[in-house]
Order: sequence, then structure tokens, then C-alpha cells
Amino acid sequence: MTEQTIFPVTNAWAKQARIDRAGYDAMYEAATTNPGSFWLDQAQRLTWTKMPTIAGDWSFGKKDFHIKWFEDGELNVAANCLDRHLDSRGDQIAIIWEPDSPDAEPRRFTYRELHAEVCRFANVLTAQGVVKGDRVTIYLPMIPEAAFAVLACARLGAVHSVVFGGFSPEAIAGRIEDCGSKIVITADEGRRGGKTIPLKANVDAAAARAPGLERVVVVQSTGGDVTMHPRDVWYHEIAGGVSVDCPAVSVNAEDPLFVLYTSGSTGKPKGVLHTSGGYLLWAAYTHEMAFDYRAGDVFWCAADIGWVTGHTYILYGPLANGATTVMYEGLPNWPDASRIWQIVDHHQVHTLFTAPTVLRALMKEGDDYVTRTDRSSLKLLGSVGEPINPEAWRWYHDVAGGGRAPIIDAWWQTETGGIMICPLPGATALKPGSATKPLPGVTLQLVDEKGGVLTGPAEGNLVVTHSWPGQMRTVWGDHERFFQTYFSTYEGKYFTGDGCRCDGDGYYWITGRVDDVINVSGHRMGTAEVESALVLHKHVAEAAVVGMPHDVKGQGIYAYVTLNDGVEGGSDLHDELRAWVRNEIGPIATPDKLQFAPALPKTRSGKIMRRILRKIAEGDTSSLGDTSTLADPGVVDELVAGRIA
Ligand code: WTA
Repeated sequence: MTEQTIFPVTNAWAKQARIDRAGYDAMYEAATTNPGSFWLDQAQRLTWTKMPTIAGDWSFGKKDFHIKWFEDGELNVAANCLDRHLDSRGDQIAIIWEPDSPDAEPRRFTYRELHAEVCRFANVLTAQGVVKGDRVTIYLPMIPEAAFAVLACARLGAVHSVVFGGFSPEAIAGRIEDCGSKIVITADEGRRGGKTIPLKANVDAAAARAPGLERVVVVQSTGGDVTMHPRDVWYHEIAGGVSVDCPAVSVNAEDPLFVLYTSGSTGKPKGVLHTSGGYLLWAAYTHEMAFDYRAGDVFWCAADIGWVTGHTYILYGPLANGATTVMYEGLPNWPDASRIWQIVDHHQVHTLFTAPTVLRALMKEGDDYVTRTDRSSLKLLGSVGEPINPEAWRWYHDVAGGGRAPIIDAWWQTETGGIMICPLPGATALKPGSATKPLPGVTLQLVDEKGGVLTGPAEGNLVVTHSWPGQMRTVWGDHERFFQTYFSTYEGKYFTGDGCRCDGDGYYWITGRVDDVINVSGHRMGTAEVESALVLHKHVAEAAVVGMPHDVKGQGIYAYVTLNDGVEGGSDLHDELRAWVRNEIGPIATPDKLQFAPALPKTRSGKIMRRILRKIAEGDTSSLGDTSTLADPGVVDELVAGRIA
């Protein structure tokens, strides 16, 4: 299949979709020519306690750098996700929770029930001293309480910081300390693929390194053994008898809603800050636009709420739109590769939103696991997190979707709050591997290394020229880093860190990160983070980490390690170092390959030539390019000889 293959809008979608091609063009035009009135109009999607009269007020320039949206508006995010639905759809299911074990019973919460649970949770947090503006770290598995806790923070105007359940104590501690949260909400254990994850024990270990932590609220999930310390309280013990009424605190549109840590090319993970009004509007707008969401559609975003995809498309977008959203505790391929499709059938899922890495893993298991299920409820398929290779696209479309369901390849980032580039099911012909076109309100450019604007068919670096409501507002505690990271490379523009090609039809093809970020199974990992973890080990002198192609994960992690003098790099140390990184950061950071190197290829000024390391990791050793600027060109031959195939 070549990229010339075009899948036109299907008849079914042409008939029913809200927006057709002309509608998209008109809307794009309106958003671009008159963003002020376009966004004030869109703002009507939300229920405000004080209606905004100003849309965007921003400048990406160094002198007057600022980003604000709806700055005189006031609202409560949880009330938008819950209270305003009570009259019209209080008895509709808001959340379907599917447990890890296929033998356990799903749980369902109507909007009324969810409202009550969130209010109860909010009252519990208030009793623990949480007030507007406080940061609350949430380290929970994919259980309903994760939704309650997130929305409870929003109800109080507290700032949640969800930490993915796969992160290590070290990573949790860093995130607790960075945003200064005094309280952590966790569970005894998590459950995934039949295994348990010791969440509470991880928080205990993190607490030793996070002196500011005062209180741990523990949700009982598996009933596994945990040690309770004086700072710990059981949720079920303090929630008993607590009122299920709790007023929603009205906040300014620009008050923070959450911090979510994400890896960058340098330094520690950044706390990406999103605010209340603009973010929620972006979540609601993009959820409705991208998936042509209608009342009654069951929406399943098969992500974890520890990542931004879960924030925006399990919780905020669907709930703001009054949808029924599916939340799944487990793994898509456990107990076997049919599970994901069984869940689709069981809950009559209309839209499934998942990641290419999941598709590639399922694809390997063979079509039988898919074809033995019904899947006739599926009308739309989403893909997110990394470029989708045409094989996986084809399989998703033909086998999983039976050729009926368009694929919404959605490009966006933690920083963008929600989807930026994607097809609309009734408006956009599809090209496998292309995220197609920007949503109305998203203004893109491709630029060359020096910032020169590329027009027509071209390949370059992807920037956004105008602010949009869902844009992150700052890096928690480091506004200068926010500016430096995103706005200093190309003056007056937001730099995404992604490379991209634009074809003759104006379709965008994301080619991947152009910085030192590796996309492992759709999750971002900074090479610098893995390197810092490695050099903490007593035997490691130096480490360099690069991405390499991986047939399931998209990219894998390849680590080159030089050891201290006198230390031998045997297989024991090899395994120990991989386990070390796993412990320091979490399983997703574990190097797939680790090569002991006598030295790293450096220029005479001491800079590691990553280009060469990438080529060797890829196995592309015939075209290493010019190595003459290396301080010791002989190093390269040794690296090639020692390459881990
Ligand atoms: C990549 C996840 C190609 C991209 C929502 C981006 C994609 C990074 C796509 C953000 C896509 C995400 N096609 N690449 N549809 N979606 N990416 O912050 O490199 O975890 O910069 O947000 O994932 O990852 P993040």
C-alpha cells in the first residue's frame, strides 16, 4: 500500500456526520479569520458561573510572553462534567468500569451516582485540609476511585497531579516534591493482567524521599496487605457517613486544573500545567469534533489516566459532553488477544481510541482473536501516541473495523491538552499514516532548521503559530523553562519537537521526534532521564541512550554504557543495569538493549555524536557518515563490533 491510497469518507458517515468537507473548510476559515468571536462562541459549550467576554490574550514573543484564554470567565470544571448533566441525563451511565479479570463484574455509575461519589471524595479531601490551589498527587490504578479523585480535586479547585501507576518510588518522590503536594491518594495495590502492583508500598518508599508529604489516603482495591503509618488513612474509613453534597468551587478560567509530568529532551520531567477554562473547552471541543460524538455513543479510550490521553479522553472530554465513557483496569491482550474486542462487544462500544503499539501487539497474535468477536457496534476507530505504520493502519481498518470504521489518527501532545491534527469522519478522506489536517483553530507551519517557513509540499519541523485554548500555560515552577523549551527555537512560534511532512493535498505526516525524546509504546521517555539513571550506578562512568526501531513498541531504548576502570561488563552487570533503570524510573524506561562500550564517540570538544550511536543501534552501519571529526575514530569500529543485534 502506498501513501497514495486514499479512503474516501464512507457513505454511512457522509449521511450522518455533523461536519462535511465544506463545513470543515468554513469552520477552519472562521476560526482563523476571527478567532475572538469563534472561541467565544465555542465557549458556550461550557457552563460558566461568569461568562467570559474575552477569548485569547497571548503573545509568543519574548518581550511580552503570555498566554491567557477566557480570562474574565469563571466556572467549575467538575460541575461542567457532572452537575449540569443531572437534569437531562442524571440516570444515564457516565462511567462503565471494566475490571482486569474477565470473570469479575463491571461496575456502572450514572451521572447522578458519579456526582455523589465525587462530592463524597471532595468532602473527604476537604476534611484532610485540601483547599483551592493545593496540589494533590494521585497514584491510583485504573479503578473508579481514580475518576472520583481527579474530579474531586477539580470540584475544590485543587490541582491534581496524576502519576502513572507504573512509575517507581523515585519518580513519584520527584513529582511530589516538584509540585509541593502534601497529600497523595493511592491504593493498596493495582491489578493488571492478573498481576498486582504494590502501589502503597511504592508510596511508602517515595515518602522516605519526599519530606513534604503529610498525608496518604489509601483506597482499598485488592485487599492486599499493606503497612499503615501514622500519615496514612484508609479512604473507606474516613469516607463513611460523609455527605454526598459538596458545593463546586467557582474558579477563574486561568486557575490551574492539573499538572502532568512529561519527559523532555533535557533534565527532569516537566510539570505541564493546564488551566481550567481553556483546557476543558479544548477537551470538549476536540472530543466532539474528532469523533463526531453524539448522545448515546459509548466511548472507549483505552489509555491510562496517568497519561494525558486518559485525562482528556477518558475523563474530561467525554464527561463534559455527557458521554458514556469506558474505563478499563487491565491490559488489552490479557488473558488473550480477544479481550479488547470482547470488551467492545460487551459494552457495545461505538468509538475505540487506542495506540499503534497496542495494535501491533494484537496483530502479531493473528486475526482469529479478532474475527471470533462481533464488533458490529464499532463505528469509529482512533489512534494516538505515535505515527501509525500503514500495516497497522490497514489491519485496524480492515480486520478490527471490518472496513466500516474510519480511523481517526490523532496527533497531539501533553502540552496541547487535546487533539490538534486529525481527520473528521464526515469531512476528511483518509490516507493511512497521515494524521491529515488541523482542527479549526489550529494554525500550523513547517519550518527548516533556521526557522525559514516552508510552503507547499515540504518536510520540516512542526510549529504552531497561534495560541489555542488547550495550550499548556507553564512548566510548574519554571516559567523560564517553559519559554526556553517551546518558544525560543523559532521566534514567536510554539515548537512541537516533532518532524513533519506536508503533501500536495495539505495532509500532515508526522515523522517523529526531532529532539532527544524516545517514543516507547506511545510514551515519552527522555534519553537524558535514562542516562542520568544509569550513571547513578556505582560501576557506570558514562552512558548514552538513543532510540531504535522496535516492531511492537515503535521505538525501543538502546543504551551504550562505559564502565569505571577495572570493572568488567559481564551478563550479570548487564541484567543488573537494566533492572536498575527499571527501579529508578519504571518498567517503561528499561533499556531494550544495553551495550558495554569501551568509549563513546565524541567530537574533539567532547560532544557525544548521537547520530552515529543512532545509526549503530538501528543496524545501519554501512552509512555512518563522516567520522573524521571524532576525537578517536577507532571507537566507532569497536562499537559496531560490539553492537547488540
Ligand atoms: C507523538 C500523547 C504521530 C508525537 C497524546 C508527539 C504522534 C508525542 C501522534 C506526544 C500521532 C502523538 N502521530 N505521532 N497521531 N500522537 N504522537 O505528550 O511525537 O505523550 O510529540 O502525548 O507523541 O506525546 P504525549
